[in-house]
Amino acid sequence: MKLPVYLDYNATTPVDPRVLEEMLPYFSLKFGNAASRTHAFGWEAEEATDIAREQIAALIGAHPHEIVFTSGATEAVNLAIKGIIENFSGAKKHIITVATEHKAVLDTCKALEKNGHPVTYLPVNTDGSIDLNVLENAITSNTALISVMYANNETGYVMPIREISDIAKKHHILLMTDASQAVGKIPVNVQLDGIDLMTFSAHKLYGPKGVGALYVRKKNPSVSLIAQIDGGGHERNMRSGTLNVPGIVGFGKACEICQNEMLSEGKRLANLRDMFESKLLALNDIHINAAENNHRLPHATNLSFQGIDGEKMIFETSSDLAFSRSSACTSATLEPSYVLKAMGLADELIHNTFRFSFGRFSTESEVEHAAEVISNIVKQHRHERNFGHHPIV
Ligand SMILES: Cc1ncc(COP(=O)(O)O)c(C=O)c1O
Repeated sequence: MKLPVYLDYNATTPVDPRVLEEMLPYFSLKFGNAASRTHAFGWEAEEATDIAREQIAALIGAHPHEIVFTSGATEAVNLAIKGIIENFSGAKKHIITVATEHKAVLDTCKALEKNGHPVTYLPVNTDGSIDLNVLENAITSNTALISVMYANNETGYVMPIREISDIAKKHHILLMTDASQAVGKIPVNVQLDGIDLMTFSAHKLYGPKGVGALYVRKKNPSVSLIAQIDGGGHERNMRSGTLNVPGIVGFGKACEICQNEMLSEGKRLANLRDMFESKLLALNDIHINAAENNHRLPHATNLSFQGIDGEKMIFETSSDLAFSRSSACTSATLEPSYVLKAMGLADELIHNTFRFSFGRFSTESEVEHAAEVISNIVKQHRHERNFGHHPIV
């Protein structure tokens, strides 16, 4: 077994070798600019991005022309939210979002707030859910956008997007969802789910880093937005800049693989996750956050451990295991996770809470090893707490 065991698939995933193979020719052999219309190099690159567009659209039930390529989910979120709000020229439009969204959404909303656009940050319940009545009551005649993530990156909590969409539709408000953690992991269908704008990222689904997409609905309703990057008018004037052809080819292949393997992979990972949880829960005083089975990603768990020293646990397990406390973007700060805080966890417990996320290349023996290493550390910490630094006998 290769150590440390990777248990942080929600932060990023390795590129699947099948994806890499597909990408390689597009670096130096088929290096054309997809916007070059006058020669075969350009046509070849454009054709490759068209195929990727189809593969990506197929995974989410969209039309290929509804896909706008970006540098990742963060850029796609910025384009979606700012692009929609700026489209209402002059008016100060209201946005509704949730306290547990990724920083990409929260900080984009904060930037708009500074420009005078009111934003409502909905609270969450202890399980990570939102109260749909509170959502509906937050809607005003000025509300332009509801932005609710599909699945949470820290807890794996899956939002009831269809129900949220029903509310948005009833009030003729656009629904945007950051589905970075859901696409390729669980079935997401923009038609069935009634989504108007959706963001996702290749590196979360075994594709390369630095490429993502924004789904923009073309019909019922036709959504328009203001570009945030101006230039050559690529991506139907929504996002200028030469396309990252190898990245996009990889993104497409990664989506195709997810479409074929997602359901069986999800079942396998849910079994591994359940096995991991049951081994640890046997120790008592361990709590799963956002544990509701109908509302969780199959491959992730967020666990609070009582009676341990969280900082020491990370340090002591680091040669064996790679897991995290919250999102990768916020893991450098010592601030307790705002997601868990919003769910009502006390700061002290947040400090002892970790997310473990499994993926395509996780094996049963790796997960068993992880459970064993963590169990031993938890026992050791609790023993030290009760009896001082004497070995467990
Ligand atoms: C829920 C969520 N949204 C957005 C992002 C940002 O994605 P990217 O790294 O592609 O900008 C991430 C990844 O960290 C995420 O987990």
